[in-house]
Amino acid sequence: MASLADAGLKFTTLPHPAPASDETREAVLANPGFGTNFTDHMVTIEWTEGQGWHDAQIGPRHPIALDPAASVLHYAQEIFEGLKAYKQADGSIALFRPEANAARFNRSAERLAMPTLPEDVFVEAVERLVQMDRAWIPDAEGASLYLRPFMIATEAFLGVRPAKSYKFIVIASPAGNYFKSGAPAVSIWVSEYTRAAPGGTGAAKCGGNYAASLVPQGEAIARGHDQVVFLDAAEHKWIEELGGMNLYFAFEDGTLLTPALTGTILAGITRDSLLTLAREEGLNVVEGRYSLDQWREDAASGKLVETFACGTAAVVTPVGRVAGRDGEFTIGSGGPGQLTQKLKNRLVAIQRGEADDTHGWIHTI
Ligand code: COI
Repeated sequence: MASLADAGLKFTTLPHPAPASDETREAVLANPGFGTNFTDHMVTIEWTEGQGWHDAQIGPRHPIALDPAASVLHYAQEIFEGLKAYKQADGSIALFRPEANAARFNRSAERLAMPTLPEDVFVEAVERLVQMDRAWIPDAEGASLYLRPFMIATEAFLGVRPAKSYKFIVIASPAGNYFKSGAPAVSIWVSEYTRAAPGGTGAAKCGGNYAASLVPQGEAIARGHDQVVFLDAAEHKWIEELGGMNLYFAFEDGTLLTPALTGTILAGITRDSLLTLAREEGLNVVEGRYSLDQWREDAASGKLVETFACGTAAVVTPVGRVAGRDGEFTIGSGGPGQLTQKLKNRLVAIQRGEADDTHGWIHTI
């Protein structure tokens, strides 16, 4: 992997001349919510055809100027990542598996015909921002600093082809619970819409996938649910994922199943970490297919005991109720299940440095 210097990049650092006051920051940290408050700084790196990556900078967070013809505004050449910085039990700061985000970012870049970023540069950019804005990392249990690296096509050109210039940016946002309801288990609406089709961009983390989920997600909210679940495009039968997180199903016989990565599902890093932790718990872990009909039947018979959603933002969130046009059903008691809680506790303990990092997932800053 190339380093910043290997990539011919030199970071310019411009500390904010007037950062948020201690009072403002403390007020945000006391009640961070999700995605509404931002730290003082941001990272930007430019890419131009023929020159590659250049002008790496960490400086005051600011609005970006874009030509109205910039490709991202017309053809949605945009990709992003989500990862978190955690205060560790010993007071240090760590990222969780940032190398995995860097690798996935480049897979997304390739699918969207965008330039890849050396993985070490991705990780260093995130590290530098966390270091600069370390005062913005919340202490509270369940809270962290959410990092949002993303890339947009900036070339002013209306022809449909890959742009010749891009901007990579990292911003940071103190984060608490993703779900506002604070309910012990979330409720899910089965969408008639499709999120991703075979051969499409479902496995890439690109803004377009999330734009396409907004109407179905709006339907879910309007019907009193927290999230939408998508079925496959071909048969509208097999469970894929939620609007912004993966799903797991736990059975009374000790099997734990998650939909396989068939190309239409995002390869979640939390999803992947839980595969490992669940195997260590002695569960029979399966990546496979699971249909909506089977889900309903198994919930009714008691064969299925728990379902949970997982993702960087959502962490591990129990699913209690599922509803669709054919009626609704409850999973287990409708509240958090024991296995869900156990896996969540194990994951969070590693992320916060309270358990041994036997997998090399913790990247101390
Ligand atoms: C994440 O979990 O980081 C995501 O990108 C999902 C998004 C819905 C916040």
